[in-house]
Amino acid sequence: MEPVVVWYIRMSLIYFVAGVITGFGMLLWPEVSGYYIPVHVHLNLMGFMAMMIYGVGYHILPKFSGSLIYSPRIMKVQFWIANAGLIGMAASWPFAGRGDCPLSETALLASALLSSIAVALFAFNILKTVKSV
Ligand code: HEM
Ligand code: HEM
Repeated sequence: MEPVVVWYIRMSLIYFVAGVITGFGMLLWPEVSGYYIPVHVHLNLMGFMAMMIYGVGYHILPKFSGSLIYSPRIMKVQFWIANAGLIGMAASWPFAGRGDCPLSETALLASALLSSIAVALFAFNILKTVKSV
């Protein structure tokens, strides 16, 4: 397995643990849980689920279509962009939610943009990779 694929899977599992801890914390402290729902949701769905799909997809989809990955470079760059984006979103969302820190709203927007770029890079790279055999 490519080292970066292993890292996608490692990070996915780290986000899974972090997402579940956030969910558990929300049950323990319901009075502040509202600020953390988007953090919990995106750690689980973008962190665990999407990051796992990135890793497994990059490993398996080229094999299914009998080709090599279109751009190994995009696969590696996307790893950093996706992680920076998600960590930025998770860190800034609770502060942005309170609405008293304009800097956190900018950080949330910037990191959401990074996450969206990562999605676009994945879509492009996989679309260029898969072909009918
Ligand atoms: C031990 C594991 C988990 C705990 C303790 C937990 C806890 C919670 C809590 C307390 C809420 C807020 C409910 C509310 O007040 O409306 C919530 C919402 C949510 N959780 Fe979890 N969760 C866990 C695992 C997961 C996992 C694994 C996923 C996804 C893969 C997930 C996806 C969601 C989603 C999408 C919402 C938002 C639902 C909505 O839109 O109202 N959770 N979770
Ligand atoms: C660039 C990527 C993404 C951005 C910028 C984004 C942004 C947002 C925003 C702004 C909200 C509303 C949060 C609020 O209530 O204040 C939201 C909610 C939600 N998003 Fe995303 N999202 C992204 C990707 C995803 C993905 C990939 C999934 C699922 C696979 C997802 C699932 C959800 C769910 C389930 C909710 C509802 C959570 C709730 O009940 O509060 N999002 N997202």
